[in-house]
Amino acid sequence: MSMKTPTKVSMEKIVSLSQRRGFIFPNSEIYGGLSACWDYGPLGVELKQNVKQAWWQDAVQKRDDVVGLDTAILMHSQVWAASGHLEGFSDPLVECKSCNLRWRVDELEGDSCSSCGGELTDPRLFNLMFKTSMGPVEDEASTVYLRPETAQGIFVNFQNIVNTTRKRLPFGVAQIGKAFRNEITTGNFIFRSREFEQMEMEYFVKPGTDKEWFDYWLKERLNWYLNLGIKKENLRLRRHAKEKLAHYARACSDIDYLFPMGWSELEGIANRGDFDLAQHAKFSGQSLTYFDEEVKEHFIPYIIEPSAGVDRSVLAFLCDAYDEEAAKDEIRVVLRLHPALAPIKVAILPLSRREPLVKVARELYADLRQRWMASYDDAQSIGRRYRRQDEIGTPFCVTVDFESLEDKQVTIRERDSMKQIRVPTSELKNIVQAKLEGEDLFVLPQNGKT
Ligand code: GAP
Repeated sequence: MSMKTPTKVSMEKIVSLSQRRGFIFPNSEIYGGLSACWDYGPLGVELKQNVKQAWWQDAVQKRDDVVGLDTAILMHSQVWAASGHLEGFSDPLVECKSCNLRWRVDELEGDSCSSCGGELTDPRLFNLMFKTSMGPVEDEASTVYLRPETAQGIFVNFQNIVNTTRKRLPFGVAQIGKAFRNEITTGNFIFRSREFEQMEMEYFVKPGTDKEWFDYWLKERLNWYLNLGIKKENLRLRRHAKEKLAHYARACSDIDYLFPMGWSELEGIANRGDFDLAQHAKFSGQSLTYFDEEVKEHFIPYIIEPSAGVDRSVLAFLCDAYDEEAAKDEIRVVLRLHPALAPIKVAILPLSRREPLVKVARELYADLRQRWMASYDDAQSIGRRYRRQDEIGTPFCVTVDFESLEDKQVTIRERDSMKQIRVPTSELKNIVQAKLEGEDLFVLPQNGKT
């Protein structure tokens, strides 16, 4: 396998790498685990953080028409009445009368249990929202829900945003946060879990301009994945048929990724029309219109919503980056993560554990980690250490050797090409920075591959 061919990696390999190297662990593992809940380990939390940061930079920081928001997970119960979630956020559920396994009706291939072939109960609607209660008395009035999407926090703050930011249409509000769904069927690792994170933007536009903004966001969002290194052939757009649309949507397209289990939704882009603001205006009794100074008119803006899953993005980036290639007498496993996403940007590898080399290497490590996530590894052979860093996607390894003490130079090795160059230690930070920003500096005489 090589960089050029897409790696059809199995989910087993991704799960095994994730657990072995500390990306993702089963939740509450010492108690046997909690179904469809996952914990991000030391490397996973960095990768996830980097995914969110890359999204935030593109969605908020680099634009002047989008602002950020961070709303509470618990919301007034009326929010979910207005949004339609109390009524309609349900899946039809059937149970096998023999083995008691539960299924979502749309997942079944025939009309018997897909596991044992047993007879199934009649379908009943099962609401996917997690319920809890607020305050010391548990009664109907105290019932609150863990939000099943972050979007509603944005809709109910529409007027606050308009009043405080003086943003004019079109403008967007972005939020990253946890969402919870009591999914009937889970599985495929972090693809469908009961607690997950979303990166959602609600982009408010003038009615009549919604179609062009819908197309605009489709392109923008597809490019976001491509720019972060996802292979083009592993992404596709899938438009929902009119009769398959959610109750709030006028149009919807999914960005699908070719996950190990097949093409599946990575992100949904919906034209929500005026559904949400109109519903919240009706249920709250508050006016949620926008005043257009130009035409001196009040109206309810339409909303275009790109809604992405953080965890699904993490999974897609892991699957897409995973590669195995023949190197010397072994298979090199390498995560070809985009440098912006790599959990560790640079590793310091001293060629000996003896002084004064260790002191120099340690000082370098202390200096580099002021700017980036860096790691220090002096265990086992240099070849093994390179492989360990390749496997977690570290773009650069810096080796410090006894010559470094004399010539004040170190060797940088690039993960993907395995090329090496020797550079002045004083220039190391600038060079790593330039490389992380995509410059090709490996034009100097090379020492060969390792
Ligand atoms: N506000 C619109 C909305 O929530 P959605 O298609 O239900 O739309 C958006 O969810 C994205 O959230 C999905 O494309 C997916 O990436 C992520 N997502 C949804 N349910 C998920 C789950 N159970 N586990 C992990 N990610 C999930």
